[in-house]
Amino acid sequence: QIKAFIFDLDGVITDTARYHFKAWRRMANELGFDFSEEKNEELKGVGRLESLNKILQWGGITLSEEEKIRLAEQKNQWYLQYIQEVSANDLLPGAREFLLATREAGIKTALGSASKNAIPIVEKLGVKHLFDVLIDGNKATKSKPDPEVFLLGASELNVDPLSCIVFEDSLAGIQAAKGAGMYTVGIGYMLPKGIADFQAGSLEFLTPSIVISEV
Ligand code: BG6
Ligand code: MG
Repeated sequence: QIKAFIFDLDGVITDTARYHFKAWRRMANELGFDFSEEKNEELKGVGRLESLNKILQWGGITLSEEEKIRLAEQKNQWYLQYIQEVSANDLLPGAREFLLATREAGIKTALGSASKNAIPIVEKLGVKHLFDVLIDGNKATKSKPDPEVFLLGASELNVDPLSCIVFEDSLAGIQAAKGAGMYTVGIGYMLPKGIADFQAGSLEFLTPSIVISEV
């Protein structure tokens, strides 16, 4: 029996994924190379330093640890500028309604994000109170596809991982959820078909009972 829904943030609740892309791309451009939106899919759900390492590899660039930390910090400064104006208007279609319906159905909710910025973002979006538990990139130390972030969510919610459904827009996130033994709902159109137990463009036309019957 399903007891909890665990939501990724970037790309599921709000469209901050494009700001991560914009900031990483700006950094790559300053280093003298570029990468495509398709390539960016490999960064979704992946932690900050892990993302940086992938990008540097694409550009064939080797840097010292100190330089990497400086670049990651620079990218985050740009990202923070881009998300400064984030508000409830930036919720993805249906996100708030789906969270409310989930709670009404007596299902627990958790946020399971790799981002160290996740909590200020859910505050700006005005949905922080709709999560029983918040797991962000400060709490979880291992980057998706490691299942840690979702296992921590289940443990803080006090539910069995096998009773959880994870909502994710990234391949790394779906792999993390599967590694945790959880059901998966793929959100958006970028995931390869057949990866998640169930796939939807957004949360907009879903209800908790539809999701539970489909996974
Ligand atoms: C994930 C995003 O939610 O968080 C990734 O999908 C991002 O793109 C990661 O790199 C880490 O985010 P932050 O805000 O800690 O740099
Ligand atoms: Mg995401």
